[in-house]
This record gives sequence, C-alpha cells and structure tokens, in this order.
Amino acid sequence: MVEIEVKKSYANFGLGRSIRQFKHALVKRWHSDDGMVTLLRYVQESEQRIQRQLGKKVEGLRMLEIGPGQGLERARYFGRKNAVIGMDLDVIPVGFDLNSYLRMFRENGPGRVAKSIGRRLLIGQADERAWANLLGVEHFQNPKLIHGNICAEAPPVGQFDVIMSWSVFEHLPNPQQAIANIVKLLKPGGVFYISLHLYTSNNGHHDIRAFTGDEDQLPLWAHLRSTTQHAIAPSAYLNRWRLAQWRELFTAMTPDHQEILEDFESYERFQPRVTKELRRELAEYSDEELYTINAVYAWRKSTA
Ligand SMILES: C[S@@+](CC[C@H](N)C(=O)[O-])C[C@H]1O[C@@H](n2cnc3c(N)ncnc32)[C@H](O)[C@@H]1O
Repeated sequence: MVEIEVKKSYANFGLGRSIRQFKHALVKRWHSDDGMVTLLRYVQESEQRIQRQLGKKVEGLRMLEIGPGQGLERARYFGRKNAVIGMDLDVIPVGFDLNSYLRMFRENGPGRVAKSIGRRLLIGQADERAWANLLGVEHFQNPKLIHGNICAEAPPVGQFDVIMSWSVFEHLPNPQQAIANIVKLLKPGGVFYISLHLYTSNNGHHDIRAFTGDEDQLPLWAHLRSTTQHAIAPSAYLNRWRLAQWRELFTAMTPDHQEILEDFESYERFQPRVTKELRRELAEYSDEELYTINAVYAWRKSTA
C-alpha cells in the first residue's frame, strides 16, 4: 500500500481524482435534495445524542466543530441556535472570498483552489439552497471559521460547551494530542461528540471510487487483503487505526465515554458476497470491525 505524507492538507488531489469527483458532483447536483434529507436525519440523531450527554437542549451554547470541510452543513444547522466556530486544517472559503482563495493557494496549493472553486460552482450553491430550504432558513448566518491543526496546540479561542467532529479523526496523525486539546477546550460539564470513519470498514481506504458511486466495483475490503491492496489508491492521509486502538485511547483518556457503532446496514449489503475463502483471508478482523462504518465517541467533562 502507498504511504501518504501529510503536509498542509489532509487530502491528495490528483487531476484524475478531481475530474472523477467533479463528474460525480455534477450528477449529484440534480439529486441534492435527497442527499440533504438523509443528512438532516443523521444530524438530528447526532443532536439528540449530544443532548442526552449534556442533559439539556443544544441551544444558546458555544460550539466548536473540528474539520467542518467545505460543506459546513452541520455548522450551519447548529449555528441557527448556537454560536458555532469551525476549525479546519484547510482554508475554508465562504462565498467568493478572494482573500480566502489566495490564502488557500499559499497554504494548500493550486489543486486545492481548483477543487474548491469547482465544488462551489457545481454543488456548493445547490447544496446550500437545499439545506436552507429543508431547515426553513432564508439566509444562513455563516459560522466563524478558523484555520488550525487540532493535533498542534489548542487554539486560543476560549472554552466550549460542545466540541464535535465527523470523519476527521481517521485522518489525524496524532489522535491523542487532538483529544487532549479537545478536553482542554471544553468547559466543565461540556461534551465532545466525535464520529470517525473506521479504517477497517469496506470503504475505510478512502479510494475516491468508493465515494463516487463505484464502491461495489471494488473488491470487498480490498485495502486489508494482500491480494487486492495494489488496486486501491487512498485519496487522503489515513492513520489506519483499528477499533481496538480507538477503544484503548478513549478508555485511557476519557474512561466514562459512550461508544456507538453505526453500520448503516453494511452487514446486509456485504455479507452475502463473503465467501469462505474471503473470510479466511480476513481472519484477523472481527465482524464488528468489518461491518462498522462509523465509530462515535461521546463524553461529558466533569463539572468539578
Ligand atoms: C473527510 S473531511 C470531513 C469534512 C466534514 N466533517 C464532513 O463530515 O463532511 C476531513 C476534514 O478534516 C480536516 N482536517 C484534517 N486534519 C485536520 C487537523 N489536524 N485539524 C483540523 N482539521 C483537520 C480536513 O481539512 C477536512 O476538511
């Protein structure tokens, strides 16, 4: 498997991958509303879980989202009733802000700029409109965005009631440091909600084909098998952590956390294609590791 170095951005943007993503985005544009309805259900479920941890409604709070990415859907969702800050390793431009694009060019390179402008033109506006319609909002109040690395020092932005993150931790070279920073940035009684995409899931390799409609064309768990690894090209840096490592980390740092494993019916989808030979090839992995897509960790800091 090809090792990927992380520099200033977590992702790799080859021309072929970008074109593939743009083509997929063009098709997606016409189905934007369907995707948004599914996302809304998922975000509402996350909100209920955060609420249960907090013991109160997610309203009037100071919230930090780590790695919101370009979509900003969750930051905008929670931003209707809370003060939300997004912190990302990449420069995230909101609208056509020339300064952000120039900064992105300097920090993340020309490939990132081309991809961001393309994304904004092709799907960003349609998604934003669909999201606003679904939430019954005319214009979103844009979240405050800061450029930073959660694996470095905790940024001097005060403390938060909630710190949340989706699909970021699998890309971090130093998850321990990130958790330490998050714990420091939480107010007493504050809650973190961290959802990560498990490396050992079928598409945990982050080959762009798996996210652009062709997951079923790739060999099952191709990245975990010596016979198929060569066919996979991850589109981002991955720390390749397994479930046991996440459990060990969260148990050591935040022992009274809650773990939720989400499988999105992957057992029903993939198990019928698993032959005896394939299961033998994957013998070192449990069903739990193979069929879990996202592992979620939620924790409340003590009030003392
Ligand atoms: C796969 S994207 C997820 C985006 C969004 N959370 C979502 O679920 O659609 C990962 C995001 O995490 C950001 N990221 C990666 N490493 C980071 C770090 N060390 N500190 C802050 N953000 C980081 C990336 O720039 C990217 O925007």
